[in-house]
Order: sequence, then C-alpha cells, then structure tokens
Amino acid sequence: MVDLLLGLQWGDEGKGKIVDVLTKNYDIIARFQGGPNAGHTLIFDGNKHVLHTIPSGIFHKKAINIVGNGVVIDPVIFKKEIDNLSAYKIDFKSKLLISRKAHLILPTHRLLDAASETAKGKAKIGSTLKGIGPTYMDKTGRNGIRVGDLELENWKDKYNALTKKHLKMLNFFEVDIQYDLAELEEEFYEAIAVLKKLTFIDSENYLNQAINDGKTILAEGAQGSLLDIDFGTYPYVTSSTTTAAGACTGLGVAPNRIGEVFGIFKAYTTRVGSGPFPTELFDDDGKTMATVGHEFGATTGRPRRCGWLDLVALKYAVQINGVTQLMMMKGDVLSGFDRLKVCTSYTYKGTEVTHLPYNIEPENVSVNYTEFKGWQADLTALESASQLPENLLAYIDFIEKEVAVPIKIVSVGPDRKQTVFR
Ligand code: GDP
Ligand code: IMO
Ligand code: MG
Repeated sequence: MVDLLLGLQWGDEGKGKIVDVLTKNYDIIARFQGGPNAGHTLIFDGNKHVLHTIPSGIFHKKAINIVGNGVVIDPVIFKKEIDNLSAYKIDFKSKLLISRKAHLILPTHRLLDAASETAKGKAKIGSTLKGIGPTYMDKTGRNGIRVGDLELENWKDKYNALTKKHLKMLNFFEVDIQYDLAELEEEFYEAIAVLKKLTFIDSENYLNQAINDGKTILAEGAQGSLLDIDFGTYPYVTSSTTTAAGACTGLGVAPNRIGEVFGIFKAYTTRVGSGPFPTELFDDDGKTMATVGHEFGATTGRPRRCGWLDLVALKYAVQINGVTQLMMMKGDVLSGFDRLKVCTSYTYKGTEVTHLPYNIEPENVSVNYTEFKGWQADLTALESASQLPENLLAYIDFIEKEVAVPIKIVSVGPDRKQTVFR
C-alpha cells in the first residue's frame, strides 16, 4: 500500500519535518508532483536542511527515495541540492531514483515564468519563478522534455528546438527580462551531466512491483490543497494536482493501492504569494505569528502572510483528499495568546455558509469566528500527549469534532524530536 502525506492549506505546513519523522516506518519515500517551488525544512542534530526536489526521506540509511513522473526537475537546482548534502556521504546512485517520465525545467522556462509574472503586473500570481507554470504548460501541451529523453542521442536537438520556440514566446510578453543564455546553458549542461549519473527508472513499474513485494511506501506531497490547480484559489495556485489524486497520476499507482492519507495543517494559517486569504490578519496577532513562527518562505525568503485557522477551508481539503489522520503543526507558536480565533463559517453574499464557495475574495466573503482561551505554557519541550495544556486540548478537541478526523500528531517545534504522538 501507499500512504500519502499532503499539505491541507497553502503549503509550508511542515510536510518535510513529518516525512522525516515517519520515514523510519517506510521502505520508500516518493515525491509525486511540484518541483523546486517547494521548500521542505528538516531539522535534526542541530542542523537545518531545506529540500526542494529531493524527497525528505534522504537522511535515513534504509529508505529509497523516488522522484516520480509527476515532478518537474530543474537540473541546476537539483545539482545544488546534491552538492549541499555532500557531508552526508549519501550513495545517491542507489538511494535516489528518478522517473524517466519526470519533465525537465529548462532555463527558458524560468525566463518565461518571469516574463509572464512581470506582464501580469498587479495581478501576478506571486510565483516562486522557478519555471513551474511554463514547464507544466509544455507537459500538457505535449512539447516537454523528459528525463528519459536524456538517454536518447538527439535530445539536444529537442532541447534546441524548444528553447528557440521559448525565445520567440519571450518577445510576445513585451517586457524587459535580462538574461545571458550562454551562461544559463553552461550551468544547465553541467547539471545535466550530474543528473545523468543518477539512476533513471520506470517508476510506475518499480513502485507497483514494490507494492506487490509488500514494501511500505510514503508519497510526499508538495504545496498544499488550496494551491491545487483544480481545487485551489485559482488562478492564484500552482500548476499541479497537489491533492490526493495527484499521487495516483504522479506515481502511477491506482486509487485502490492508497492506504492512509495524512493531512498536515498549521494550528493557524499562512500563505506566501498573491491570492485571497479570508482569515488573514493585519494586526499585532498576525505579526506575532510571523515573528514567533519565523514565517519566511523556505524557497524564496519572502515573508508569509499569517492568519487564524480556517475550518471551512480545512474541511474542504479533508474532503477532497479523503484524509484519514490529521497532524497539527506549530501549536507552540500560539503559546502566549490570551484568546484564539477559529473560522467556523463564512458569510457569503449575505448568507452564512460552511462550505468553501467559488469566490472567497474579501468583497464576497466575511469570516465568522469561534473564540477559544489561549494557553500560556511553552510547548517546545513536551514529550507526551498527557503534558498538553488543557486549553490546547480543548482547541484540538473542537477541530477534531468539526472536521471528524483524529489529530494523531501535534508538532511542538521544528526539530525532529519535537513531535508528540496521540
Ligand atoms: P513544508 O514546505 O510543508 O515542508 O514546510 P516548510 O519547511 O516550508 O515550513 C515549515 C517551517 O516551520 C519550517 O521552518 C520548519 O522548520 C518549521 N516547523 C515545522 N514544524 C514546526 C513546529 O511544530 N513548530 C515550529 N515552531 N516550527 C515548525
Ligand atoms: P511547499 O512544498 C508555499 C505558491 C507561490 C505562489 C503560487 C504559485 O514548500 O509547501 P509557482 O512557483 O508554483 O508558480 O507559485 O504557489 N507556492 C508555494 N507556497 N509552499 C510551497 O511549497 C509553494 N509552492 C508554490 O508562493 O503563490
Ligand atoms: Mg515549504
């Protein structure tokens, strides 16, 4: 069976930390979508690592890590990630396997991303500018270059033809994007050489064989459900299926092979980039969350917008994904608040609703809150569920009842060890 681990909000819920915590229970960790727009932070033994493309099981001796067909790979960023791990003496050839069907992000995909965002002006998506949108456009447009193409004699012809087309497309945007293609291509080809030293596999065959052999597999999601291309806050979303169905298409495993669906959420909400965010705070409470929670993007360093927990949105994400267990992150960041608020319904065009409506911009929805007493205790040294403060337990109990799924992990700090199981 394949268990899934997914972010239920707008990304950065703490997926990397929890995948690292759970890896000891799995033989294989497999990323199924997204690319280097993701930044998954792992902290253990006093060291911090941010992974973008490499699955978060890479630090464990036993686990095999797979980059699935649904992922888009930027060889240049991938090479840097591998270089950053040199101290760990990881045998990448045997522990990090890449799907031949994963698509490549070319230097010109990044340029197109920048041009598209610049041309949008105020309406920009707030993209990480890693070339994600243009690469998935080429995938669905059937123009893309895949990892498996690198094994063909003529792949450079394909590359040159696509790059030529991209350069023409760049002119269309009529914005001034500065670049030195020769320089970009030099680092690209260098990185391709590193990528080609790794093991390419037909990952759908590999994974289905592994399932038949009784191996345990954890699929690691990137981004979050509210950034899903279909179910997120379109157009302010990413270009992949971040929800559970994405694991089936991004790995080639059938729906009846999916076991547990772990849904991760922060005890409050954050978002980086543009787009609606009904519970966003612009006051001192929001500033406190940002400061205490160190809310800066792991990929771009941009400040994350902060706000209260939104149960309307959380219930929606739980439903779309079929979540079977919840994990609540960053409860420690809320220590010290006198009162906490949780959004339990919206007022949508004058009527109270508890489902996520089509339009959630401020002109269409206002938010209705339920208030809770805060907790003052520092949670960061807690080791067992019996030590959780009463007001936090009331908060957890309310969420579990509203969402009708149990919260099995409460994370109380960024370190691997700061994890309370219930
Ligand atoms: P991901 O993209 O879902 O893997 O999450 P990110 O790594 O982008 O962002 C999560 C941030 O919160 C990282 O800086 C983590 O180190 C940190 N973090 C994770 N869990 C906790 C927690 O329980 N408490 C605190 N204070 N920080 C956490
Ligand atoms: P992880 O896996 C948070 C956001 C961007 C932007 C929008 C589109 O770390 O949770 P893109 O680069 O995909 O064109 O950006 O999606 N975004 C993320 N926000 N965490 C992420 O990944 C994100 N990946 C993309 O900020 O709003
Ligand atoms: Mg992140």
